Amino acid sequence: MNVQETEQQLGIGFCKRQPLVAERGEGALVWDAAGKKYLDFTSGWGVTCLGHAHPVMRNALSEQAAKLWQNPNSGFAYSPVRAQLLEELQNWLPAPAMRTFFVNSGAEANDAAIKLARKITGRCGIVSTSGGFHGRTFNTLTVSVNQSSAEGFLPLLPHNQFVRFGDPGELEAALGADTAALIVEPIQGEGGVQIPAADYLAQARALCKANGTLLIIDEIQTGFCRTGKPFAMQHENALIEPDFLTMAKGIAGGFPFAALAVSADVAKQINVGDHGGTYCGNPLGCAVALAVLRYLRAHNVAASVAEKGKWLGAALTELQQEFPQLIVQVRGRGLIWALQLADDDMVQRLTVASMASGLLVTPTRNGIVRILPSLLMSDDELELGVALLRKAFSRASVAVPSDNNTLDCGANELQIN
Ligand SMILES: Cc1ncc(COP(=O)(O)O)c(C=O)c1O
Repeated sequence: MNVQETEQQLGIGFCKRQPLVAERGEGALVWDAAGKKYLDFTSGWGVTCLGHAHPVMRNALSEQAAKLWQNPNSGFAYSPVRAQLLEELQNWLPAPAMRTFFVNSGAEANDAAIKLARKITGRCGIVSTSGGFHGRTFNTLTVSVNQSSAEGFLPLLPHNQFVRFGDPGELEAALGADTAALIVEPIQGEGGVQIPAADYLAQARALCKANGTLLIIDEIQTGFCRTGKPFAMQHENALIEPDFLTMAKGIAGGFPFAALAVSADVAKQINVGDHGGTYCGNPLGCAVALAVLRYLRAHNVAASVAEKGKWLGAALTELQQEFPQLIVQVRGRGLIWALQLADDDMVQRLTVASMASGLLVTPTRNGIVRILPSLLMSDDELELGVALLRKAFSRASVAVPSDNNTLDCGANELQIN
């Protein structure tokens, strides 16, 4: 059996796969099992912020692997590498008095935040935003808008209310005496890179405070320089201090790791046993996260992402002008962009055509293709990516709709230097 057949017969596929066997990656590139290379505009769903197999991550992981693998932050022992990571995080968090607990995934961070908010406030209600995505556990599925993921699992948890993203009036009306928390992304990622007005979070902060409601800001996709600032909420003019800040993806550049930071006030109300997990804050993840965050800060990656983002936005807008019948809208900031296409069929055609050209993009629901390059992608690589995208749009505009994954991506045309 080849790899594809083995996965099809013995694995469980929760996603429609493309005809690609990804074997290794280095920097901005990924190679398939046959040795063909692709430029990666996905970062594995916005995760590999330093690119694939970056030496600082490899070194951090192997050095820690030779020392100690397991010592959870819900366990009884302190950890030197975790202490260093907590200190490094002080350079990042919006309020220095925030306390952090490390977890294993974005959904777990949000799930814990929702759970803790209910306990601390003694209230049950959670408000979330249409188009938002916060994970696939029961708590987080309930506050996410993805009807197809929820199908078959209904009813979800009670006491949740959706409000329009970016609409403070609707939020104000929804907040009630039983609202424990608002959970919101500063820029909706899975929702298609939706950017609210610049003062939306500040207004949400004020409304929550007035109502005794805790504010959970989900920076899982947008955090750690992805949008050209350390956190996306820092694009607002006012300093936003959330009660909970959830982080994952870029925090450890590809090692499964996540974090939940809470305000000093919230921290005081958390008790032993309120949350925990066997692998939470494990030393391997701490070591990799420490290396990633130090690198991002030492190289001022936020500033270079902001610059690259300006170029990429202009290049994608030009592309839209070339293919107005295919690209309905271009949205983004820093190195997170969405191309709004006509429908999901067009997304599939574009995804397959991109692969044929030697480029990996992220197909998303609702006619959206997301572009999430490594934050270290060079100008030449970004330029090449846009050129490959152009080629893919030309291909997709004439290609027969494809829903059977049969396109042969063998002869891709990627050329770097
Ligand atoms: C904003 C946001 N929150 C939460 C999640 C869930 O994170 P994870 O897949 O690590 O559980 C995601 C994943 O895409 C996300 O984009």
